[in-house]
Amino acid sequence: MIINLWYVAEWADAVKDKPVKAKVLGQDLVLFRDLEGKVKCLSNVCLHRGGSLSQGWVNEKKDCVVCPYHGWEYNGKGKCSKIPSEGDNFEVPPRFKVDSYPVEEKYGMIWVFMGDLPEEERFPIPPLPQYDDPNWRGLKTEYTWKAEASRIVENGIDIAHASFVHPVFGYPSTAPDNYIDEVEKHEWWGRSTNVMFPPQLKGGLFGWRKLIRKDKQETRVHPEWHLPGMTVKIQIDLRPGWQIVMFDANTPVDEHTTRTFAWQFRSFMKLKAFDKGSIQRLNTILLEDAAIVEASNPYYLPETLANEVSVKSDKFMSTFRMARRKLIEEKGWEIDLDARDTYKGRKVLTIPSPTRREAYENGQKWVFEKMPTVPALKEKAVLKDFEKQVSELTTEGANSEETIVD
Ligand code: FES
Ligand SMILES: [Fe+2]
Repeated sequence: MIINLWYVAEWADAVKDKPVKAKVLGQDLVLFRDLEGKVKCLSNVCLHRGGSLSQGWVNEKKDCVVCPYHGWEYNGKGKCSKIPSEGDNFEVPPRFKVDSYPVEEKYGMIWVFMGDLPEEERFPIPPLPQYDDPNWRGLKTEYTWKAEASRIVENGIDIAHASFVHPVFGYPSTAPDNYIDEVEKHEWWGRSTNVMFPPQLKGGLFGWRKLIRKDKQETRVHPEWHLPGMTVKIQIDLRPGWQIVMFDANTPVDEHTTRTFAWQFRSFMKLKAFDKGSIQRLNTILLEDAAIVEASNPYYLPETLANEVSVKSDKFMSTFRMARRKLIEEKGWEIDLDARDTYKGRKVLTIPSPTRREAYENGQKWVFEKMPTVPALKEKAVLKDFEKQVSELTTEGANSEETIVD
């Protein structure tokens, strides 16, 4: 699990006038709306005796969440501003603070930045222009997987599984015909163009959906990965002017559980009457993927390509694996699960927030210790090796006994 990225903590409409508990990267959070309707996100643990802030309430002025145990109040910046037992004139010491994480409400989702980077250094939330565009009809759903998020991202951007896992997207017999046409790779996101030959669509009243495309009609599919939100976005060009866009933010609730917040947009058949079928098909796809991914081994994404074998159809997902690896090896942003578990149940460890960084800069102490992370490597041996492996996968015609079966 990687810190210093945006993740979706909850649907926006789930956060109303009461505090809501969320969990991201194994850490409990409390979300609440202030007087202006802005969502605030704090670490869920009270500094005093460990009360769970999400069991409390929002104060009358609507600027603080109140701990249910002894009524301490915390503002949106995580500062304790009132301790009822000490009376109205008590001045709360400046170091009485919990971590407060940056929040953005976008696409009907609450995005929280789980780290302490200054704003200008944060990778952006992935774009979703379809959300505000009346030419698209959007539907949302969600699914909780018993699987680790990066395995789910790889599954989402994988071209070759469609022929086997999703009958709606492909036939085993057309698997050799599908190919990756283009790969575009950046520091925190990537996009590819795939050409596929899916079956004719079924269903609809009197089977009208078969008119959308002919059997094995050449179809362009553009998957994207974005490290922020562990997001997968897929655009499917069914025929000119008929497109589907899927947007899945895969939140690592903890290292065993991923909650996918999913939107699906379509540029055709925008009447509500067609929603039911669309959402059913989306849910079917999620379940087909989950059956495969939840049973895969190893549970976590392998550190290199060397302990699995890869072929040309894996080259796009390898770009994701490498970009993620860079955050681990070069930046040191991976949570050290073993070190964390040493203190399980005995210490509160929190992911550092910008408020904590600010306090350190002002020479203040912080009550809760930092979530341990795996230090960046001085010798980037694994990454170097990995980079070589990926470049062999992405260079047309290149080969390597280790990684490619051509
Ligand atoms: S534990 Fe929260 S006020 Fe005492
Ligand atoms: Fe899939």
